[in-house]
Amino acid sequence: MSRDTNDGAANRCFVFDTTLRDGEQAPGFSMTTRDKLVMAKALADLGVDVMEAGFAAASPGDAEAVRQIASEIEGPTLCSLARAHERDIDIAARALEPAARSRIHIFLGTSPTHREAKLQMSQGQVLDAITETIAHARGAFEEVEFSAEDALRTERDFLVEAFEAAAAAGACVLNVPDTVGFTTPEEIFALYRHLQETVTRPEGVIFSAHCHDDLGMAVANTLSAVRAGARQVEVAVNGIGERAGNCSLEEAVMALATRRDVYGVETGIDTTKLYGTSRRLARVTHNPVPRNKAIVGRNAFAHEAGIHQHGMLADRNTYEIMNPEDVGQPSTSLVLGKHSGKHALADRAKRLGFEPDAAALQEAFTAFKAMADECREVTDQQIIDLFKGAGSAPAAPWTVRRVELRFAEAARTDSFARIELLHSERGRVTDVGVGGGPLDAAFDAVQSIVGVAATVAELDITHNAEEDDGAVLADIALDIDGHRFTGRARGRDVVPTVVEAYVVALNRALPTGAAPRRAEAA
Ligand code: KIV
Ligand code: ZN
Repeated sequence: MSRDTNDGAANRCFVFDTTLRDGEQAPGFSMTTRDKLVMAKALADLGVDVMEAGFAAASPGDAEAVRQIASEIEGPTLCSLARAHERDIDIAARALEPAARSRIHIFLGTSPTHREAKLQMSQGQVLDAITETIAHARGAFEEVEFSAEDALRTERDFLVEAFEAAAAAGACVLNVPDTVGFTTPEEIFALYRHLQETVTRPEGVIFSAHCHDDLGMAVANTLSAVRAGARQVEVAVNGIGERAGNCSLEEAVMALATRRDVYGVETGIDTTKLYGTSRRLARVTHNPVPRNKAIVGRNAFAHEAGIHQHGMLADRNTYEIMNPEDVGQPSTSLVLGKHSGKHALADRAKRLGFEPDAAALQEAFTAFKAMADECREVTDQQIIDLFKGAGSAPAAPWTVRRVELRFAEAARTDSFARIELLHSERGRVTDVGVGGGPLDAAFDAVQSIVGVAATVAELDITHNAEEDDGAVLADIALDIDGHRFTGRARGRDVVPTVVEAYVVALNRALPTGAAPRRAEAA
C-alpha cells in the first residue's frame, strides 16, 4: 500500500488537491499548461499530499499537462482522474509515467439517477465495471482511488456493496463524493460512521470526502466527514470547482488547525503559504479573491469599525482567532476609514512618529472624519499630512480633461491612449501612452504627463444600474515608492472614470514627496 494511506498515524488527514482538475474544469477557471505548472509548483510547496493534475483522457492537451506536471513536480503523489474505462486508465498511466509516485482516480456513478439516466446500467453492471476497471488499473498503478459519483444520493446498501467491490479489487482510497452539494453536516456524519462500521475492506483503506458547495455547506460537510473518520479531504484553492465550487482548501485546513480540539487531526500543509497560493491562483485564472473570503480575503484580518479597532489595540484576541502570519497574510490591518474611532487614529499617529496632545488629536480627528467620507480608505500618507497640519484636503493640481483610446485590434498588438490633463498652474498638457490594454495605455500617458512612476496595487470597479443611475464607481490604490495612495471617482464610462481615480491618487502623492519621477520625465 502507498505511503499516503499507510504512513500516517490515525490522526493524519491527507490533503488531496483538485484545483487543477475539478477546479480547472469550472467555467471561467481554465488554465493553460503553463498556468497549471505554475500552480502545481505552488501546490507542491504548500505541501498537499496528492495533486490531481487533470483528467488525462479528456483531451490531448489535458494529457500533456498531466505529463508535464508529472515530469517537473516533486513531492506530492500525482494523480489523474479517469472514467471506469480501460482506455481512460491507459491514457492516464502514460501521462503519469514520469511521476515518482502516482495514483489513478476512477469514478463511476452509483446513484439511481446516474445509473439510470446517464449510464443506463443496472446495479450488477456497475459492480462489475468497478471490479474490472480497478483490476485493470492495478496492473499499472499501485495506488487506486475509487469515487462513487453522487454517493450521497445512492442507496446506502448499494453504496456499501460498491465500496466493498472497489476495496476487494485493490482500491486503497474510497471517496464518497457529494457530487451535487446536497448533503448536510448531520447526514454526512451519519453516512461516514455507517460506512466505517459496515464496509468490509483491507486494513489501511481509508475514506475520503469530496463535497460541493451548492448549498454553501462544502466545508462544514467535509469537516463533519473528518469527525466521522474520513482521513482524506478533497479540496481546491479558493474553493473553485464545478458550479458553486469544491470545499475550499484554505478554509478546511485552517478549521482543522484552529479547532484541533474538535477534529483531532493534522495535515501536512504549510499554512504560511495559503495566502500566496490563493493570490497566485487568482492571478493565473483572472478571478479575484472576494474581499470577505475566509482566511485569504483582504478583509479576513482587517478591522475598520471603531469598537473593533479599540478591542484589537487592547488585545488582538478580542476579534481575531488566527494570526495573519500563520496563513501568510501580510499582517492585521486596522483600516482607517469612516467607521474608525479616535483610538485607532491616535495609535496610527503614534506609529507614524506623532505624539499629539488631546486638542491636536481632536482637531485631526475632525479633519480625518471629513477626509474618510471622501475616500474609502485613509492612507498613512494622508494621516502624516493631517498631523503635519497640511489639512484635510490635499492640493489637487491635476484634473482630467480628455481621454481618447485606440484599442488593440489583435491579441498581440498594443492599445494607445491620448490623455489631456489640466494643471492648476501649467495649464493643459497632452501625452500619448501605450500599453497591453486601454487602461495600461492611459496610465502610461498620465505617468508621463505627471512625471511620477506608480503601480496599481488595487482597482475596484462597481456599477449599480438600479441604485446609482448607471454610474460607475472606481476605487484605486497606487503603490508609489512603497507608499500607498488611494483615489476614487464616479462617472459614466469605465476607462475615463478609472483614469480620474488614478489622477486623484497621484494628486495625493505629489505634495508628500513620496512620488519618484519617471525616468523619461525626470
Ligand atoms: O464531484 C464529483 O463527483 C467528482 C468526482 C469525479 C469525484 O468530481
Ligand atoms: Zn467534484
